[in-house]
Order: sequence, then C-alpha cells, then structure tokens
Amino acid sequence: MKKRILFVDDEPMILQGLQRMLRPLRDEWDMVFVDGGEKALAAMAESTFDVVVTDMRMPVMNGAQLLTEIRKRHPSTVRLILSGHADKDLVSQCLGVAHQYISKPCDPEQLKTMIHNACLIGGDRVTDPIKDALGSIDRLPTMPAVFRNLEAALAEPNVSANRLGGIIEQDMGMTAKILKIVNSAFFGLRRSISSPSEAVTYLGIDTIKGLVLVNSIFERAEPLGTRHLAMEDLWRHSLDTATAAKAIALAQGLSRAQAEEVFVAGVLEDLGILVLASNFPQAYDRAIESLLAEKALLTTVEQQEFAVTHAEVGAYLLGLWGIPAPVLDIVSMHHTPHLITDPGISQVLAVYAADILVGELGGNPIFRTGGFDLTTLDRLGLADRVEPWRTAVRAQKAQQGGDIHG
Ligand SMILES: [Fe+2]
Ligand SMILES: [Fe+2]
Repeated sequence: MKKRILFVDDEPMILQGLQRMLRPLRDEWDMVFVDGGEKALAAMAESTFDVVVTDMRMPVMNGAQLLTEIRKRHPSTVRLILSGHADKDLVSQCLGVAHQYISKPCDPEQLKTMIHNACLIGGDRVTDPIKDALGSIDRLPTMPAVFRNLEAALAEPNVSANRLGGIIEQDMGMTAKILKIVNSAFFGLRRSISSPSEAVTYLGIDTIKGLVLVNSIFERAEPLGTRHLAMEDLWRHSLDTATAAKAIALAQGLSRAQAEEVFVAGVLEDLGILVLASNFPQAYDRAIESLLAEKALLTTVEQQEFAVTHAEVGAYLLGLWGIPAPVLDIVSMHHTPHLITDPGISQVLAVYAADILVGELGGNPIFRTGGFDLTTLDRLGLADRVEPWRTAVRAQKAQQGGDIHG
C-alpha cells in the first residue's frame, strides 16, 4: 500500500516547491500539502497519514505545537520537522516531539531515505497498539548504576569524550538516544554515526553536559514493571552479548572500527525487549510465563502475545529514530539469519552467534536461543566457524574472570 504523507508549511511558495520536487515520488507516496497547523489537523481527522513533515516556524500554531497535538491525537504517525539552521532555538523546543529533523533546503533523496527507514523497517509487521506506544516514546529506561557513573564522570573537570562514550555504550537506552540525537539533521551532520564515543566527540562535552543535565535526555531508571524480567538481567545479557560479538568480530578479522560497531549493535540487539517490557509489562510477563512453562523461545512467545518479535520492534523504533541502516539490519535479523543474503562473515552474523554462545555459557533462560541454524551457516560458507567463535567467546570470558562483561 502507498504510504500517505502530509506536508505542512505556511508559505505557499515553499509548499509548491516541495510538491514539484517530490513529484517523481508520486507512484510511491500519496502526498497531501496544506498551509497551516489547523488544516493539517483537519486533514488528519478525515483520513490516516503514515508520516507528517512540518515546517517549524509558522504563525498561529508552530511546528512544535502542531507535533505535540499530533502526538496526542495520532501517536503512531511518524513526525518529522523541516527546519532552517536559524531555527535552532525553536527546534530544541521539540527535541521530544519530533522523531527526526530534516534541514532546509532539503534534498529529496535524503528525505526519501529518511521516510523509508522511519516507516518501512518492520513497519508493516508492527501492530497499531505497539506503533502507538512507540510513537510517543522519547526516552527509554536506563540502568541506575550506569546513569550514576555518567553523572559522576560529567562532574569531573577534564573528562574525555572516550570515557563518556564508554559509559553511555554500556546502556541500551542511552546508546539509542544519543545516536538518535547525533544523527538528526538538527546537528547538520553529513554522515551517519553509529557509536556513542564518536557521538560525544562530535557533539562536544559541553553539549553533552547540557543535554544530560539540563534537557534530561536520559531517563533516570525506574523498574520495568515486569515481575519476571529485571532491568539488571537485560542489562547483563546485552553487555555479555556485545562483548562476545566484538570478540567474534575480531577473531574473524573484521577491523577495529567494525568490531566497535558490532559491540554497539550487540548492546542494542534486544532493545525491543526493553520497549515491550516497559510499555506492556503485564503482557510481557504472560509471554515469559509461557516461555518458562513450555520451554519455548522468547521470539515464539512474543509472537503469540504481540504478533511481532522484539527484533522487529527494536528495529522499528531505531528506524523511527534515524539510527543508521547497518545497525537496523543487525537488530532486525539477529534471530532470523536465514534472511542474510551476503556470503561470509558479517556484523549481523557476529551478533547472532554471540547471542547463541553467551546462552551456552549459562545466564538467564529468558534469553536462550534455538542454537545455530546450520543450513544457513552452510549456505554462507561458515559452517566450520562455530568452533573458532566458541573458542573466542570462552577465551574472552576467561580473561574477564568468568564474567563476560568487565
Ligand atoms: Fe534477541
Ligand atoms: Fe539476545
């Protein structure tokens, strides 16, 4: 089905320009153009839109006010803001209400990729109640210990970007949020960033201090609300997987930079669990109860309870937040390696293998996997690699005194 996109700008000239520029996309998108917030809300009351792209500076109702209203009335609609650099103050007002920013003048290709990533990855599989919940999420729960470390580090006079990045990347909620911020066009970046250390270096320590201490971009943790899953279990599992995935990537000869990216994707792989468990704690508890009773896999019971898995939900939220496509692929495919098409070792495979090998070494039964898909490994020419991967992960664990994460 064609995606329905609503464009809002108070200046008719700009609206006409957009319409002309986007005409080649009319076979893919159903586009409606209106010249103000009131008309936008009226159009949305009449029919459903997948995405709204609005100007920031408008009389009567500005972009932030319009998006706030849309978040309330139509939470699952993807909310994008188009803004010029002079509007930075105004844009910072809606750090929370827009999913992504597009800087003016906008390039149709960039807009197309952004809309594609924001609504297609997992978008057709994720159900409406989950989309509604995801559409209004702005922050994710964090691990209290990591949050405290970050606050202490921010108070040090000469703290380095690497140290701050190293703390942020221990927590999936903080990692997702910092990548969302740095990759938004608000900061005018021309390439995508997929590691927290790079994000801190790019934004600068003072900006990070402001974002954390003044804008409160990170949520101070609250318990998840689930009886059968504690934040601590998920945190431990994500760090174990990330560390193991990095060890596998290095053992396979991937570069340091690629191995770093694998670590970050490993931290984010189960972001969907955090999202589902914190937004639907009772349903998630029911899913875990049947997992324990039937010795079923997490993805199977999630599918029964939510009609979608944490892999799809995680990738959907990260896409909505503008996280680079390679990370989305790793998150969306970490339980479905049969979807991988390129032969040989890949970053997705390193995370997939790490998840399985970490499970072999014990840990919480909730995260148990179904073991290696040998048909797929054979097709990718990697059937003989399982043993070296296992060795790399065990060596890593032994080095850290039995606890994979350090
Ligand atoms: Fe997973
Ligand atoms: Fe996992």
